[in-house]
Amino acid sequence: MLDLFPDSAAIDGSRLSLGGLDAEALADKHGTPLVVLCEDTVRATARALREAVGDGRVFFGTKALPNVALLRLLREEGIGADVASAGELAFARAAGLEGADLVVHGNNKDAALLAGAAAVGAPVVLDAPDEAQLAADAGVGQVLVRVTLGVDADTHEAIRTGHHGSKFGLPPDQARAIVAEALDLGLEAMGVHVHVGSQLEDFDAQAETIVRLASFVAGCRDELGWVAQVADLGGGFGIRHHPADRAPDAAELAHAAARTARLGFVEEGLPQPEIWLEPGRSVVGRAGVTLYRVGSVKRLPGRTWVAVDGGMSDNPRPQLYGARYTALSAARASEAVDEVVSVAGMHCESGDVLIDDVALPSPRRGDLLAVPATGAYTMAMASNYNGVPRPAMVLVRDGDVRVIRARETVEDLLRQER
Ligand SMILES: Cc1ncc(COP(=O)(O)O)c(C=O)c1O
Repeated sequence: MLDLFPDSAAIDGSRLSLGGLDAEALADKHGTPLVVLCEDTVRATARALREAVGDGRVFFGTKALPNVALLRLLREEGIGADVASAGELAFARAAGLEGADLVVHGNNKDAALLAGAAAVGAPVVLDAPDEAQLAADAGVGQVLVRVTLGVDADTHEAIRTGHHGSKFGLPPDQARAIVAEALDLGLEAMGVHVHVGSQLEDFDAQAETIVRLASFVAGCRDELGWVAQVADLGGGFGIRHHPADRAPDAAELAHAAARTARLGFVEEGLPQPEIWLEPGRSVVGRAGVTLYRVGSVKRLPGRTWVAVDGGMSDNPRPQLYGARYTALSAARASEAVDEVVSVAGMHCESGDVLIDDVALPSPRRGDLLAVPATGAYTMAMASNYNGVPRPAMVLVRDGDVRVIRARETVEDLLRQER
């Protein structure tokens, strides 16, 4: 199961260490729940993805984990940011990202986001029939057009985006019309964008989408005399959250996406596009481990509940997508796993179950549980349900630890009250 953990994870004796630091000591010092992010894993993944696009560009899907220190670290690796709100744009700017290091998304961008994009000279991905005009009015210079090509990805319906009727993007005829309008308005129409969905476990839907994308671009050339210079293929590469999950290597999928786009453009007689990718989950998912302290343990007929000090407020993915996780007893990692239990959160909902069943060394109050593959779409979606402050996040590497998100306090929550 250590293969679900970050590269730096190791078991010394019976204790889990991350980034060369004992997990139990990290939890003692920084409290729980605690999100531990492995710097080496983030950097290695970022480099592999960058290499996959050759002279193209990689933009981190900030929605997966908006954090300034992380964005700064990725910037050092030559990775920009895909932002989808004025808030995410502010995070990226705080990390020193401007202009061509950004790509701006959203199916309903507000005035603040368009004005912010214009102010930093960032390209905007048009995603609504009237958005070319809105972008021009806001002073945006460069645009791409998001096209929805009617491919159903094999993933949870909540994170499927490229199908007919999707709330994202525009169908080909409307997308072509918005390219024409952008050109009329004097905007620099750089290219096209697709994003099929998230947590893709194979390449089929993306391959089909990219082939259709090349044909769409050829149609634009034939009808408008316009050729896309950029093919932004979005993100979506899946990761393993559970030992039973399968997911190919993200860099392999990125290679395949870039290769398919290059071939597709050649087959349509188009010049080679610059390839952009926007991976989120695959950059930080496996790098993140959440540490929880066990509280009450209830052995009932047919089920044992092991309650931890977090739950749906720091990771709503089990409720949102039926996501499956596993856990390791961080200070008893080499003990025999002799009991199958359910890991419950501490929130006032019966549905607040982090893990339906996992085999652990007979759990007791005070144990530390480490839940791997929790770097993406967990903290990003955290809430204050039950008045619970959101967790801290630390970055670890070679025995060094840095707090990159302070733990929220009840005082932080009360400050907003009137
Ligand atoms: C436009 C766009 N790009 C990139 C991403 C990142 O996707 P993932 O985290 O699955 O790589 C998303 C997420 O849904 C998205 O909507």
